[in-house]
Amino acid sequence: MSAPERIPPRSVTPHELLAKGELTVRGQVRDASNAVLYCTVEYEGHSAACVYKPVAGERPLWDFPDGTLAQREVAAYELSEAMGWGLVPPTVLRDGPYGPGMCQLWIDAPDGEADESALLALVEGEEPGPGWKAVGYADVGEDRTALLVHADDERLRRLAVLDAVINNGDRKGGHLLPAADGRLYAIDHGVTFNADDKLRTLLWGWAGEPLPEEAMEALRRLSADLAEGSPLAGRLAELITPAEIDALRERVAELLRTGRHREPSGQWPAIPWPPV
Ligand SMILES: Nc1ncnc2c1ncn2[C@@H]1O[C@H](COP(=O)(O)OP(=O)(O)O)[C@@H](O)[C@H]1O
Ligand SMILES: [Mg+2]
Repeated sequence: MSAPERIPPRSVTPHELLAKGELTVRGQVRDASNAVLYCTVEYEGHSAACVYKPVAGERPLWDFPDGTLAQREVAAYELSEAMGWGLVPPTVLRDGPYGPGMCQLWIDAPDGEADESALLALVEGEEPGPGWKAVGYADVGEDRTALLVHADDERLRRLAVLDAVINNGDRKGGHLLPAADGRLYAIDHGVTFNADDKLRTLLWGWAGEPLPEEAMEALRRLSADLAEGSPLAGRLAELITPAEIDALRERVAELLRTGRHREPSGQWPAIPWPPV
C-alpha cells in the first residue's frame, strides 16, 4: 500500500493571511503612543507574526478626526503598492479581539534589534561626508548641536517621494525597518493624508533636487491610477475623505509639475522630534 499523499497547503498571500487568518494577541509593544499589539495570524496551515492596532486604542489627535488612524495606515499601504516600491508591509483593515483595527505583517530586524545606524547619524562639523545627505542641525544637549544626516540610499529616496505623496506627518528614524532580506520597510502611517500640508520627516536630504526618472514614472502611473472611478480611488474612498483624495491628487500633480523633491513649506515643523 502506498503512503497517503500529503496535500501541501495552498499558498496564500500575506494579504490573505492577514485578512482571513485567526488573530491571536501575544503581547503589547511598549512605548507606543497608540495600543500596538504583537499577534500571530493563522490560516489554512500558514502563520505569520503581525501587529494589530485596534481603533479603540488610538490616542485622539487635535488635527485628525478620531478613530481614523487605522484606515490611514491601510491607505498608505495602498499608495506604496500603487507606486510599485513595496515600502509598506502588507496592511489590512479587519476585526480583532478589541474590535476593528489595522493589521500589518511584522518585519523582523536582521539580528532581532532595530538598528537605523546605517541610515541615520549625527555628525560633527558641516559636511555630511560621502554617501550621506544633510538634514539639518539638531540640538544634542549641553549647548551643542550636531549635523543630522541620512544615507544617500535609493530606498530612502523612494520613501521620501512616498511620504510627500501620502503627506506623512511623522517620518522618524524608528519607523524605518531594514529587514533581513536587504529590503527596507517603513511603518507607522497613522498621521497621513491630511488635506493640509503636514509633511514632517527626516528625509529632507534631496529637498529641491530633481526627482529621479523612476520616481517620475511611478508618479505618472499613480496619477492615472488615481483617476475618478478607478479601482484605487474606489478603495481609497473607503479609507479617507473625498477632500483628502483630492488633496492627494493635487500633491501628485504638484510633484509632476515641479519634477523635484519637496522642500519644507515653512508653515509646519519640518523635522519630527525626537528624530529617532
Ligand atoms: N510591522 C511592524 N514590524 C515590526 N515592528 C513593528 C511593526 N509595526 C510596529 N512595530 C513596532 O512597534 C512600535 C510601535 O509601533 P508604531 O507604529 O510606531 O505605533 P504608534 O502608532 O503607537 O506610533 C514600533 O516602533 C516598532 O518597534
Ligand atoms: Mg510610532
